[in-house]
Amino acid sequence: KSFQISVPATSANVGPGFDSMGLALKLNLTLQVEESDQWEFMPPSDSDTPYEENFIYKIAKQIAERHHTTLPPCKVTEISGIPLARGLGSSASAILAGIEIANQVCHLNLSDDDKLRYGTEIEGHPDNIAPALFGGLVISTDFGEEIVHMDLPNLELDTVVYIPNIKLKTEASRKVLPEAYPMKTAVKASGVANLVVAALLQGDYTLAGRMMEKDLFHEPYRKELIPNYDTIREEAKRQGAYSTILSGAGPTLISFVPAEQGTTIANALQKILPDYNVKALNMCTEGLQVSY
Ligand code: HSE
Repeated sequence: KSFQISVPATSANVGPGFDSMGLALKLNLTLQVEESDQWEFMPPSDSDTPYEENFIYKIAKQIAERHHTTLPPCKVTEISGIPLARGLGSSASAILAGIEIANQVCHLNLSDDDKLRYGTEIEGHPDNIAPALFGGLVISTDFGEEIVHMDLPNLELDTVVYIPNIKLKTEASRKVLPEAYPMKTAVKASGVANLVVAALLQGDYTLAGRMMEKDLFHEPYRKELIPNYDTIREEAKRQGAYSTILSGAGPTLISFVPAEQGTTIANALQKILPDYNVKALNMCTEGLQVSY
């Protein structure tokens, strides 16, 4: 059996939608998978690393075990990837790829809801997993016993991502967050998040952008960890961006910009950010895909 799995990168939070809102981007993890007589991951991350330590392998094995079956060996070749530990959902994409490998080679017949549940359980929050699975902009929340998700209609927006050449682990970026928020802060933070959703649904991107930048859940605490946070925000605004916010837990920043203006704005910002990879990316309406 041989097949290809493709999972998009994602940008979680979308400002104040902390652990709840995320969108898929046209930047994919694509794997070619073939059943083989031994496990092999290409290109090898490091010749000393045994396949048992490969993250995707570990996920696939865990899913097979949950279904009381064994995972037949496969050769997995990465055709395209997502930069790691940059806030672009690389771990969610890898988790879904692992789940899908097990699904295919062990004939598990998993539904989307199963994949969402397993993925969210492994990652701890659904905001990258849901858009990576379904594509588009997805709002989701996890009650433990059920995960509620809703897809928003496609938006007429481009995005620009500013990927620095430093990594930041989500765990480190979550450590700086408060354990609790005063009632007044929580009320305002949730109001701001509600307005982002309402404004996006009405196509009022100016209001949506203003509210995205007013997040009170995480950006005020995380901005200290993010180089050039204010500079990028200000310059992107000058170039016509509606908003510039952290992508997931950072360190990548993402701007929402008028449709068709992504490349122009990315080029302008790349000039002042020589150490960054500044890219215009379209939103991706397709989530996890398998082709044979
Ligand atoms: N919602 C998560 C966070 C996304 O901001 O920590 C990163 O995985």
